[in-house]
Amino acid sequence: MRLTSSNIDTRPRHEDQLLAEERQGEVLESTDLSESFLPNGKKYYIESYGCQMNFSDSEIVASILRKDGFALTKQFEEADLILLNTCSIREKAEQTIRKRLKSFRQVKKDKSETKIGILGCMAERLKKQLLEEEKLVDIVCGPDAYRDLPNLFYESETGQKAVNVLLSREETYADISPVRLDKGGVSAFVSIMRGCDNMCSFCVVPFTRGRERSRNANSIVAESEDLFNRGYREVTLLGQNVDSYKWKNEDESEKVNFAQLLEKVALIHPDLRVRFSTSHPKDMTNEVLETMAKYDNICNYIHLPLQSGNTRILDKMNRTYTREWYMERIDAIRQIIPDCAISSDIITGFCSETEEEHQDTLSMMEYVRYDLNYMFFYSERPGTLAQRKFEDDIPLETKKRRLQEVINLQNKHALERNEACIGKTYKVLIERTSKKSEDDLCGRTDGNKMVIFAKGNLQPKMYVDVLIKECTSATLKGEVVGVYE
Ligand code: 5AD
Ligand code: SF4
Repeated sequence: MRLTSSNIDTRPRHEDQLLAEERQGEVLESTDLSESFLPNGKKYYIESYGCQMNFSDSEIVASILRKDGFALTKQFEEADLILLNTCSIREKAEQTIRKRLKSFRQVKKDKSETKIGILGCMAERLKKQLLEEEKLVDIVCGPDAYRDLPNLFYESETGQKAVNVLLSREETYADISPVRLDKGGVSAFVSIMRGCDNMCSFCVVPFTRGRERSRNANSIVAESEDLFNRGYREVTLLGQNVDSYKWKNEDESEKVNFAQLLEKVALIHPDLRVRFSTSHPKDMTNEVLETMAKYDNICNYIHLPLQSGNTRILDKMNRTYTREWYMERIDAIRQIIPDCAISSDIITGFCSETEEEHQDTLSMMEYVRYDLNYMFFYSERPGTLAQRKFEDDIPLETKKRRLQEVINLQNKHALERNEACIGKTYKVLIERTSKKSEDDLCGRTDGNKMVIFAKGNLQPKMYVDVLIKECTSATLKGEVVGVYE
């Protein structure tokens, strides 16, 4: 395959996906009408970009605006407030937002009182500078300032530009019950912590999302329980580094680490599937793996970003583990949870990476044989450790060629892994009608593989056993051989 675009879309051709990948411009559509709502006569529209955490944040934003009386609309033309919840992880992500912003020019011309707000990582990274660069923007609101959004809107209505990009050491939005974005009501994200203290040298996140803080464990369990009672059958616990989750109550009589939190959520009900993302190889403990093995409803699936398979590059990336350490963690997973699916993030062409060091990434992929991988070439981000300390010296063509090698190998492994599923039966949680055919449903296995099968009389939220008959590198197809009551 020839690479022609400035970046390569490595999003897996999945029916769906639930990982730390950039999603683009999804519009928040549903409102939860279970709570009373006093309209203030204003309508807002919100699009989300970036990682799962951003999508989860949009649900928090929706809840805050709803409390203040704002009604959600799917049509930006009729909105009084247009919001873009943005991502800064790679340059391409920011370019996408800037392009999207331009498309609102006409709305502003037709209806000059419409306000445009930038939320999320790009707001935090660029702060006031965003107002100078993008004249269409009226409001800039960082990830820890969402409670202030109604005020920022009212301030902007007076004709002023409104900015709040204060980062907090405490804000976890623990008390806010998110308005759920997904329409099916099967699977929900539950944010368990915010920020990141890791300082990977390539990464902008510690600057855009601030210091790491863990959310009250009781509020996480209560939110998950409430979701189950409302018919949800899966929760994904979200954090930049879930393994460093740590919460204690005020008198310190209660202390909860991630393994203990997982257990608490798993105990809500055996029919509630529990997933989580993202794990960090330096922090992932056997205690977590053993908890996963102990509970059937904790899914056997771990997203464990490798980034590079070479120890010198890992050191330069400030990942604080070695190639050998990562291998040992993989061995531990295979030993404690033999059928665990594993996925990863990989960056090619990081500063000074040699051809041999790139080969180490490929050989690590051979060692693990990932079920799924999110693959990127290195994109230098302003203000990061790498940008300040190292030269971005790998030519773009080389970065892309290495990326293509990684993609090719991953496609081969994914196909092999899926082919190994043929003839086996998997318990699947039905999510929705397939995007490709009205007559089919789809849902995921415990190991996060998307499975397609005939609809029959089945419905979302049911658990079924599916015998796998065929596959591609991205999806499995099968026949339902059993239905759980
Ligand atoms: N360039 C390319 N990829 C990056 N990622 C994070 N920062 C960068 C960057 N500057 C990737 C990492 C991370 C995933 C969410 O995005 O692989 O795990
Ligand atoms: Fe998520 Fe990172 Fe993008 Fe922010 S920069 S939206 S934390 S992926």
